[in-house]
Amino acid sequence: MSQSKTRVLIPAEKIQARIKELGAQIAADYPEGNLCLLGILKGAFVFLSDLARAIDLPVRIDFIGTSSYGKGTTSSGEVKLTKDLDTTIEGADVLVVEDIVDSGVTLSYLIHVLEQRRPRSIRIVALLDKPDRRRTPVKVDYVGFQIPDEFVVGYGLDYAEIYRNLPDVCVLQQD
Ligand code: PRP
Repeated sequence: MSQSKTRVLIPAEKIQARIKELGAQIAADYPEGNLCLLGILKGAFVFLSDLARAIDLPVRIDFIGTSSYGKGTTSSGEVKLTKDLDTTIEGADVLVVEDIVDSGVTLSYLIHVLEQRRPRSIRIVALLDKPDRRRTPVKVDYVGFQIPDEFVVGYGLDYAEIYRNLPDVCVLQQD
């Protein structure tokens, strides 16, 4: 890909407004606190930082690293754990924070790994959901936006590690 253009799919203001709604809903659903936000690196780092500030509760934050795409635009189907959690989640209410659910392979692998660590509960929040691409069923409890099957970048999402810092979610147009 020598030259690439981007087209805004979801502008920053719309993302921020939806995150405020999600944060309020999540805070209402966990009245006891004890919530651990678990961001999936790298893509979720931007969403997690905004979502955490929209949840009016004391929360713990940890990260786990996975990679399945390499440098391509489609999932390799194999998930690699690139970084483990720093803290224990035993007995905690875990909210897995993901930027996008595509095939569902990453999350179904990760949920399996996390369940073995005996948290009290696990739920998933994803900013973006591409239901048309699902290969493995995953129950996503909170969804920011359902999007069509287009390759998106920005707001944490990359193509070959570029574009993560765009404030909008954009479609990458290949020339
Ligand atoms: C992306 C994205 C999700 C996953 C979703 O991560 O951040 O974690 O793919 O795809 P799936 O539902 O088909 O598994 P990627 O592996 O590209 O790593 P990154 O977050 O470091 O960019």
